[in-house]
Amino acid sequence: MKRIFSGVQPTGNLHLGNYLGAIRNFARLQDEYECIYCVVDMHAITVWQEPAELEANTREVTATFLAAGIDPTRHIIFNQSQVPAHAELAWIFNCVARLGWLNRMTQFKEKAGKHRENASAGLYVYPVLMAADIMLYKATHVPVGEDQKQHLELTRDVAQKFNNDFGREVFPIVEPLIFGEATRVMSLRDGTKKMSKSDPSDYSRITMTDGPDEIAQKIRKAKTDPQPLPESVEGFEGRPEAANLITIYASLADMETEAVLAEHGGRQFSEFKAALTDLAVEKMGPVGQEMQRLMSDPGHVDAVLKDGAERADALARPILREVYEAVGFLNAR
Ligand code: AMP
Ligand code: TRP
Repeated sequence: MKRIFSGVQPTGNLHLGNYLGAIRNFARLQDEYECIYCVVDMHAITVWQEPAELEANTREVTATFLAAGIDPTRHIIFNQSQVPAHAELAWIFNCVARLGWLNRMTQFKEKAGKHRENASAGLYVYPVLMAADIMLYKATHVPVGEDQKQHLELTRDVAQKFNNDFGREVFPIVEPLIFGEATRVMSLRDGTKKMSKSDPSDYSRITMTDGPDEIAQKIRKAKTDPQPLPESVEGFEGRPEAANLITIYASLADMETEAVLAEHGGRQFSEFKAALTDLAVEKMGPVGQEMQRLMSDPGHVDAVLKDGAERADALARPILREVYEAVGFLNAR
């Protein structure tokens, strides 16, 4: 059976990019794969998180997984810190990964910014923990947005080096699953910047809990240019905001970008924005409402995470044992 692992950080402000680029795809892969979906709280704390918010955000991501339609009885939903084997395998991988590999990671450079010296050591080895997440279950496929591609290449490098160093084919070589129209949703305020949880402007993103009025207002205020919509994808050249809004429409409607252009190309933005608002409210509204309903029942959400963690732990233990044996750790118990 092909096995999927993917993770989402509980860092708040879950947005349309997370949904269209990742979480909606998670739900769509359930019939073809055995799926393990993780709320990666240990990744979240590589930058400061208020403890009370971390707890609430962990439930929020879990609620989004459930509201998106992931079935926690057929698949596994859990939070990372409840399965200690993630940290245990990450340590071994820290000793396999090379500094030179980590120095190339663009996400670290972006997140650490100018204050590199002040970034946590955890932020630096973040991709190693991610490799451990995936390999702890010998997952073969990982659905993610475009921005995680480089981290998955590192995962492949770590797995390959481990297999070589210890002369055993312990780990599979993982395949990224980056698909759909919206693999990289851009900010509504600046079409050259990724839509992100940490953008200071609320108008840069549509969040999962936005109601119809907020969605309408954010789309109305979204940056555009003075020309009418392009008639073909060639017309996206130099018009990142137009490209982004049309891509979002295509993804929400499950249409090809070309088909959206055939329908809306040549129209004014005002007219298109009204159509996009209706579509976004229609598609996102029910998911947001289900999330709110779930979040009002933390007992249920926690029960899902507890059950998921127990099942994840049972899958992980024998694989970690196999790794320890390959490394030569003596087991005297
Ligand atoms: P994160 O919020 O960093 O934990 O990301 C969770 C998932 O959402 C990952 O698979 C990311 O690749 C994906 N993702 C985050 N931002 C975007 C975006 N702007 N467009 C598409 N996918 C995204
Ligand atoms: N780094 C991912 C992100 O920020 C989250 C993540 C952690 C992840 N572990 C993972 C994604 C394992 C896929 C597989 O989006």
